[in-house]
Amino acid sequence: MTHSNHRESEHMIDAFFLDRWSPRAYTGEAMDKETIMTILDAGHWAPSSGNNQPWRFVYALRDSESWPVLLDILAPSNQRWAQNASALIIFVSKTYRVSKDGEKKHAHTHAFDTGAAWFSIAAQAMKLGYHAHGMEGMDRDKAVQVLGIPEGFRVEAACAIGKLAPKETLPDDLRERETQSQRKALAEVAFEGSFAGEE
Ligand SMILES: Cc1cc2nc3c(=O)[nH]c(=O)nc-3n(C[C@H](O)[C@H](O)[C@H](O)COP(=O)(O)O)c2cc1C
Repeated sequence: MTHSNHRESEHMIDAFFLDRWSPRAYTGEAMDKETIMTILDAGHWAPSSGNNQPWRFVYALRDSESWPVLLDILAPSNQRWAQNASALIIFVSKTYRVSKDGEKKHAHTHAFDTGAAWFSIAAQAMKLGYHAHGMEGMDRDKAVQVLGIPEGFRVEAACAIGKLAPKETLPDDLRERETQSQRKALAEVAFEGSFAGEE
């Protein structure tokens, strides 16, 4: 087992996987363009079915014109803490691909592939001394409208990236939640040979 970041794995995994977590306390410091581009570059090296690369990243750096636009798309409960992040990203995925004979086909793994890109982004952010926090809570219709997302693309999720601040900087209710989460037992999610466990 590996112990790190108030967590303990069942096997000897790399401590990186325990050290990655989703804090809400951020310092509110600026991120430079080279850093966000480095993080996004890592994201777009994720694997995808057929190398389809269905992910699209709409980003904003704090103190830029697009920052209030992206922040306003987030659910108010997320805006409360994400306003102190350094960068925001909205993850969009292309839901179709065009086959060799020109036929439009549903891309079954568009969300799965874009999830891989999100994790690559979170990992690269960590390696640069940042933390990334994924967000489901946002107004998807607003995202489509204000970001100009075309038909055939799905708004998947968002993330905030920032430098960790002391949890004392958070309002009381968020400070209480600012702890490293744990996981189900591996046996509840990993099955040899056939699906087991849940109806
Ligand atoms: C796709 C996705 C959506 C999430 N949505 C939200 C959200 O809207 N608000 C929030 O505070 N946290 C959100 N989270 C953070 C999760 O709650 C968090 O990842 C989970 O509790 C595991 O904790 P850890 O990331 O610290 O290991 C989201 C995470 C992911 C990956």
